Amino acid sequence: MSTLAVYPGSFDPLTNGHVDIISRGTRIFDRIIVAILMNAEKSPLFTMDERVEIARTVFKDYSSVEVDTFGGLLVDYAERRGAQAIVRGLRAVSDFEFEFQMALMNQRLKPTIETVFMMPAEQYTYISSRLIKEVFSLGGRVNGLVPELVEERLRGKVRAGGAR
Ligand code: PNS
Repeated sequence: MSTLAVYPGSFDPLTNGHVDIISRGTRIFDRIIVAILMNAEKSPLFTMDERVEIARTVFKDYSSVEVDTFGGLLVDYAERRGAQAIVRGLRAVSDFEFEFQMALMNQRLKPTIETVFMMPAEQYTYISSRLIKEVFSLGGRVNGLVPELVEERLRGKVRAGGAR
C-alpha cells in the first residue's frame, strides 16, 4: 500500500521550515499533499494563487509532492484524498499545546487518520510566517529563512506597497 500524507497550513508565506518538513516527509511517505487552507486569514499577504504558485515552483522537482487547496474540515479533505496521515511541524514546546488540541480533535473527528509530528532542522525552529512578514516589512533580512522565490515576491510586495 502506498502511503499518503497531507501537510496542511496557511503558508503565508512558505518558509524554509515548511520546506524542511516537507522534504523530511517525502522520506517517510510515498506522497505528500501540501494543502493550503482557503480563506484562513481575512487579509493574507499572499493571495491563494500566489501561495499555490510559489509552492508548486519550489517543489517542481519533487515528483512525490503535490500542492492543493482545501476548505472546510481538514480531516474531511484528508479522507477525500485517501490520506492516512496529517503531518504537522513542531518547533518548540510553545507549539505543543495547540497542536495537541488539534491532533486530538482531528482524532475524535476521524479516528482512522493519524497526526504525525515532525521536527524541523534546528536552524529553522524559530521561524514562522508571521515573523518573516514582520521582519521583512520592517526592513530586516530574511535570506536563508525562506526560499529565494519568496524573498523575491516579498520584495515585489514592498514595491507594490503591499507589505506594510
Ligand atoms: O499554518 P497554520 O495556520 O498553522 O495551519 C492551521 C491549519 C490549516 C492546519 C488548521 O487551521 C486547520 O486544519 N484548519 C481547517 C479547519 C479544521 O479542520 N479545523 C479543525 C482543526 S482541529
